[in-house]
Amino acid sequence: MSTARFGGKVAVVTGAASGIGSSLATALVAEGASVIGLDIDEQGLGKKAAELGDSFVPVTADVTAEAQVAAAIGVAAERFGRLDAAFNVAGGSRIGAITDMAESDWDFTVDLVQKSVFLCTKHEARLMRDSGNGGAIVNISSLDGRIPMPGGSPYATGKAGVVMFSKNAALELAPHRIRVNSVLPGLVDTPLVAAVMAYEPAKQMFLERIPLGVAATPEQIAEPCLFLASDGASYITGTELVVDGGWEISNFPNLAKLAGS
Ligand SMILES: NC(=O)c1ccc[n+]([C@@H]2O[C@H](COP(=O)([O-])OP(=O)(O)OC[C@H]3O[C@@H](n4cnc5c(N)ncnc54)[C@H](O)[C@@H]3O)[C@@H](O)[C@H]2O)c1
Repeated sequence: MSTARFGGKVAVVTGAASGIGSSLATALVAEGASVIGLDIDEQGLGKKAAELGDSFVPVTADVTAEAQVAAAIGVAAERFGRLDAAFNVAGGSRIGAITDMAESDWDFTVDLVQKSVFLCTKHEARLMRDSGNGGAIVNISSLDGRIPMPGGSPYATGKAGVVMFSKNAALELAPHRIRVNSVLPGLVDTPLVAAVMAYEPAKQMFLERIPLGVAATPEQIAEPCLFLASDGASYITGTELVVDGGWEISNFPNLAKLAGS
């Protein structure tokens, strides 16, 4: 049964050309929304537009560049004059040891995962505030925002910042009836982690830590994001939701394995 939670609503999705963002765009259109899809990948956006039709408006933009973010949100203002929901999903990283990492690699990753969320929230919230209908913003963090990852210091640091930024934004924007929450996915089967998923020994090392025993599909991350942006979550703001198949709670040694030895 379709609940059409987003009938007649306007949504922005960053990172809409692939993975979690692509899944969100598909689900939003299926539930009646008009979607402005931002991505740096023009070709990927073109494919998404061909798939979703007129309800999907592709805008090629780099989420780390304020002028491009402002112009992209301007498309929502011009076309629809309002914005009801925003999902700040675009991300990626450069990995490396702290002792060897170039300043430019640190800046690249922190700008992409953290500054982009500030820039997008800033312009999305302005449009929500000015249209006077309230709204909901969902920022994608990561379980790495809570659990450090060897070689991933800028990513984990940036993702931890996304959680705190979202709480700060929730506080500042509540008077405008704009809710802001973050989602922390664990392992999700998308192109971002294709190398891990394709190399069986590495994949198994991840899966051993995940009590539910599988990586999430992009749809399994999109659905909790949609809930947080929906009227069903109308009293939820300033919080974070871990969606990780139990990965975070699995750190205690599994002594049950000894029972068989
Ligand atoms: N896949 C996972 O296991 C996982 C786990 C936790 C968190 N996340 C987070 O989820 C989000 C989505 O990741 P995904 O797994 O769907 O990856 P993905 O690589 O499939 O999609 C990311 C999208 O972001 C776009 N993008 C990258 N840089 C951009 C920029 N500067 N401007 C605009 N768009 C840009 C890419 O073109 C791509 O379409 C990211 O923030 C990622 O850090 C992913």
